[in-house]
Amino acid sequence: MKVKVENLNKSFNGLIVLDGINFEVEEGSTAVVLGRSGIGKSVLLKCIVRLIEPDSGKVFIGDVNVLDLNEQQLNEMRKNIGFLFQSSALYDSMTVRENLAFPLKRHTDLSEKEIEENIKEMLALVGLLEAIDKMPSELSGGMKKRIGLARSLILKPKVMLYDEPTTGLDPVTSKEISKLILDMQKQFKMTSIVVTHDMVVASSVADNIFLLENGNFVFKGTPEEFMQSDLQIVKNFLSQKL
Ligand SMILES: Nc1ncnc2c1ncn2[C@@H]1O[C@H](COP(=O)(O)OP(=O)(O)OP(=O)(O)O)[C@@H](O)[C@H]1O
Ligand SMILES: [Mg+2]
Repeated sequence: MKVKVENLNKSFNGLIVLDGINFEVEEGSTAVVLGRSGIGKSVLLKCIVRLIEPDSGKVFIGDVNVLDLNEQQLNEMRKNIGFLFQSSALYDSMTVRENLAFPLKRHTDLSEKEIEENIKEMLALVGLLEAIDKMPSELSGGMKKRIGLARSLILKPKVMLYDEPTTGLDPVTSKEISKLILDMQKQFKMTSIVVTHDMVVASSVADNIFLLENGNFVFKGTPEEFMQSDLQIVKNFLSQKL
């Protein structure tokens, strides 16, 4: 499914965070959104799935403007959309197995056996099969992140939104997560939007890079174009990050 955002606006008490955002992510491609802390990257992702209600604009997932949907239609639509939160947002009182079973029980009619197979498949993908019986409190930050990723991918969504998928992870694990994002895109033709500060991740997964500044994108282009850009604002961003 393609994602298309038209003239999206969001302010909080007079603070303009999104100021007429336009962008398009082709089906099966990966867009990376960069920008400094507090600029509105998480707000943008949340507006796309209406975890935050935008003030105005349009957000097409496939052919449907999600801002036109009622509560029930929105819930239906959200089955197609995976969201990896900046904080891993696992249920603390559930084991890893139960955390991963949750979306499957809620949204599918798979048998217990199929659920168990799906859980194991996803845990193997993120390299944490041995954590299946653990509680979130027994996991490191990086492990929680990977379990969160497994949970958000388990329904094989058509659109996947990643908010800082590698923050707090060591370079080796970050690389594995980047590989996983690429694998998901290839295997399931997922359309992905990745918010990250990590230029290594950005250059390895992005088909296109979008740099957010003062409510709007000041750069759109390929990773190569980004790295070679003459725009001062891009150079400033890169010099702080690299
Ligand atoms: N629910 C909310 N109510 C009021 N203000 C909010 C809310 N959510 C975000 N903001 C404000 O919107 C701005 C953008 O926040 P956002 O979380 O999108 O930043 P970010 O680019 O994701 O930063 P970071 O890289 O640190 O995660 C900030 O000024 C923040 O305080
Ligand atoms: Mg954020």
